[in-house]
Amino acid sequence: MSQAFTRRAGLGLAALLASLGPLAVVLPPARADTGPQIAFEVPEEGSVSAEEGAAAFGRIYEVVSHPRCANCHVGEDNRPMWSGPSYGQARPHGMNITGGESRIGAETLLCSTCHRTNGDFDTDPHAPPRAGLDWRLAPVEFQWFDRSAAEICAQLSDPGRTGGRDWVALAEHLTEDAGHRGFVLWGWNPGGAREPAPYSLETHVQDILTWGAAGQPCPAE
Ligand code: HEC
Ligand code: HEC
Repeated sequence: MSQAFTRRAGLGLAALLASLGPLAVVLPPARADTGPQIAFEVPEEGSVSAEEGAAAFGRIYEVVSHPRCANCHVGEDNRPMWSGPSYGQARPHGMNITGGESRIGAETLLCSTCHRTNGDFDTDPHAPPRAGLDWRLAPVEFQWFDRSAAEICAQLSDPGRTGGRDWVALAEHLTEDAGHRGFVLWGWNPGGAREPAPYSLETHVQDILTWGAAGQPCPAE
């Protein structure tokens, strides 16, 4: 290391910068549609105790059942929910909004008509929230609203109901969505004075990996 540095120090500044390659490039300010890159290490299967895995799932459930996640992860009535402290009592989305079978409102009014696609999450209170991806309901098999911890745990453990994702792919999905300033990142930065999902995105990704490496333990009914 120090040898390489000595050699470089002998060059002119421009040559020094050039020799450093991309490292020396001054990065433009982060674009509003690019979110954080979250790195994670996959723990070996079986390297985590069932107790730790169960505790991690307890936190996972607190996140996915929180209104910032569950309001979009609704069942086959295709009705997004308005719930959480800023809404008072939980109720279906006002203005008779339905996602339809398309889950994006294509049959009636596209969600993105009001929920503009824009990675700047900051809105006025009660304005339609927005994200870097086109606003939509999650696929019906990913229903979390009104579901128990045991039901959600069974869903998350079944690749037939996660879009084919195992626990590692779930962690990848979360970080990839965050990179697009998608719905997951929005859940922790919801703007408009909304209560964010608990813990943090980083903790949630870590909990998915801990739970997975423990063999995906699920609570009893
Ligand atoms: C605006 C609506 C919306 C919100 C809010 C939202 N999601 Fe989703 N979610 C989706 C959509 C759409 C998909 C399907 C994306 C895909 O499969 O590529 C999805 C898929 C997922 C998946 C993968 C599939 C599975 O097993 O369920 C996970 C994990 C997930 N979301 C986590 C979250 C978490 C955690 C939050 C809250 C921090 C959240 N989502 C909030 C719309 C939403
Ligand atoms: C006519 C405009 C409009 C359309 C179309 C619309 N929304 Fe909304 N949506 C709103 C407004 C406004 C709010 C915020 C209400 C508040 O905070 O009091 C909202 C809030 C939400 C929330 C609550 C977010 C949270 O957790 O705080 C969800 C979920 C949601 N919309 C989903 C959808 C989906 C899915 C579609 C398409 C099927 C859709 N919306 C179509 C105006 C709209």
